[in-house]
Amino acid sequence: MPLVLATDAQKAQRDTVTHAAWGSPLSVAQYQEREARLRAHPWCREGMNTWLWVADDGAVLASCETFHTDSFLRGADGTFTQGDSYAIASVFTEDHLRGRGHATRLMDGVAAELERVAPRPHSVVLFSDVGAPLYRRSGYVDVPAWDWHLDASEVPEGRPVDGGLQETDVAAALARMQRPQAPFYLWPSAAQVDWHLERERVYAELLARPRPQTCGAVVGDSTALWSMVARYGDLVVLMLDARDAADAAALLTEARRVAHRAGLQRVVWWEEPATAPLVAGVPGAVRVQRDGSLPMLRPLRAGLPPALEVPFPRALWV
Ligand SMILES: CC(C)(COP(=O)(O)OP(=O)(O)OC[C@H]1O[C@@H](n2cnc3c(N)ncnc32)[C@H](O)[C@@H]1OP(=O)(O)O)[C@@H](O)C(=O)NCCC(=O)NCCS
Repeated sequence: MPLVLATDAQKAQRDTVTHAAWGSPLSVAQYQEREARLRAHPWCREGMNTWLWVADDGAVLASCETFHTDSFLRGADGTFTQGDSYAIASVFTEDHLRGRGHATRLMDGVAAELERVAPRPHSVVLFSDVGAPLYRRSGYVDVPAWDWHLDASEVPEGRPVDGGLQETDVAAALARMQRPQAPFYLWPSAAQVDWHLERERVYAELLARPRPQTCGAVVGDSTALWSMVARYGDLVVLMLDARDAADAAALLTEARRVAHRAGLQRVVWWEEPATAPLVAGVPGAVRVQRDGSLPMLRPLRAGLPPALEVPFPRALWV
């Protein structure tokens, strides 16, 4: 079979070619350091694989990565069963090999393999930067994606939050969050959220820039988690559990302040249907169609609800 798991040496070799797609503004050496650090992170050690689609002579034709994520499916009796979902990232074919179906065959092969090996198969998700058609061929269904942008600003007015969150608070923050009222959802572990913070740490070091003072905040029963995407000057809201419009406003206003103090330009929240009406009333929040990172879902079993009913918080992005 031409689908194989990459060895450590093959992963490192792949980094030198994928730098062209995802390396900027890092040098090749910095990008290799980023990749090595991320692969050494506990979330990746638990459930990350690099897949290669290889020719008969062993030459690599295309590659991608998969990350394990817990997911929950509501049964007929209303209770949720935990299962295995996977996020696909870094689908890559070298320039001179493109347009010959290698990425499509890789995507088909990986999904078939996950169907076979997943102990409790649920789904595969990806966040496409090349539109939907390529991945639709392999059974993925795209979901319209909207973002809310807020300028980073000191914002003197508004109700203060009850407190900011630090890295050591992530597990407790996730535990206090209300799970989505959806028939199927993916839910990040504390390690998965910390992987976003590891990206933040890596970029802060490599680009020699300050990190945000907090990685989230709480107000009343509401909670937000966020991280810096230094390359774009964004503070991205990874998870938002706002119980009412006033709490949404307090949390996002705090995010604007934290972003401003870290020298970032804006706060970005990935719209989720249940929370959108609350964010719509937040002063300064502007809704825009997302450019890239289009969520797409492929079931690994029968009986999953349509992709449109699945929430995709930014924490699930890989
Ligand atoms: C996207 C990519 C993996 C496709 O690899 P490939 O082996 O050429 O893929 P396939 O031959 O199976 O399919 C090619 C199709 O993808 C489409 N595609 C490739 N790049 C695209 C882009 N930037 N935007 C839209 N469609 C794109 C091609 O138009 C082609 O469609 P067609 O067959 O209808 O003409 C490759 O172009 C690549 O590595 N790009 C840089 C990294 C990247 O952007 N990866 C995707 C991240 S989500």
